[in-house]
Amino acid sequence: MKAVIPAAGLGTRFLPATKAVPKEMLLVCDRPAIQYVVEEGLASDADEVVIVNARTKQAIEDHFAPDPDLVALLRERGKDAYADEVERVGNLPVSFVYQDEALGLGHAVLCAADKTGADPFYVLLGDVLVPDNEMLPAMQKVSDQHGGASVIAVMPVADEEVDRFGVIAGIEVEPGVWKVNGLVEKPPAEEAPTNLAVFGRYLLTPRIMELLREVKPGVGGEIQLTDALDALLQEEEMYALVVSPKDGFDTGTRESWLATNNALAAKG
Ligand code: UTP
Repeated sequence: MKAVIPAAGLGTRFLPATKAVPKEMLLVCDRPAIQYVVEEGLASDADEVVIVNARTKQAIEDHFAPDPDLVALLRERGKDAYADEVERVGNLPVSFVYQDEALGLGHAVLCAADKTGADPFYVLLGDVLVPDNEMLPAMQKVSDQHGGASVIAVMPVADEEVDRFGVIAGIEVEPGVWKVNGLVEKPPAEEAPTNLAVFGRYLLTPRIMELLREVKPGVGGEIQLTDALDALLQEEEMYALVVSPKDGFDTGTRESWLATNNALAAKG
């Protein structure tokens, strides 16, 4: 089973900071954001992380590549703890596939299809952090309880903010677990079926890859994951696990990046 991390986006909302440094490489406390995400993927039952990268975002690959010269230099200078950490990060089971044009999250996921094959797989957004690594196992458990169905993480948001997110419609089948029967993009507050916003973690059946191949490009020529999830809902059951704002952090905007740094620094 693979954990797929789409990280090929343009990082527009952070420009010009993200002109030379990929958004996913921005530091959050003591490491680049994507290192948290890779470590979370590897703490689950996934045996490999597949990063969907852009050719222009070489820094992500450099970060996860072995660097024997640096390790040797650090050891020569007696800095073994740093050498160990550089060595560890350079040896994580991470592979790369490429999205040649930022054509949307759905398109990025589809770029990993050869890697995921006939198995279910996780999708972890490269700019969303779950530092305690407990969300994927909890999602896997829900899937196991429901015949291997797809499971998406959702987070409650304030009613007045619901129009900024994709939210689910459905019924709560047990505390904190919903059976999803629809996905609504950015609804006005008065029309929102729930205030449960899709958060950046998914456990998906392989059928989603076939459906992504059929999705027509929407706004800005982008292939949306939401459209393929909608199509999947017509064929298969899907569940949502409600997660707490204290367990998951977005770093995709200046405000959320700063708030995440503060929250994680306070946690220690
Ligand atoms: P975002 O929409 O938050 O990232 O996508 P973005 O597109 O880089 O940011 P803006 O909107 O331009 O400011 C969530 C994750 O999906 C990846 C991003 O790299 C990010 O980690 N993504 C997004 C892709 O890999 N490919 C895409 O075409 C779009």
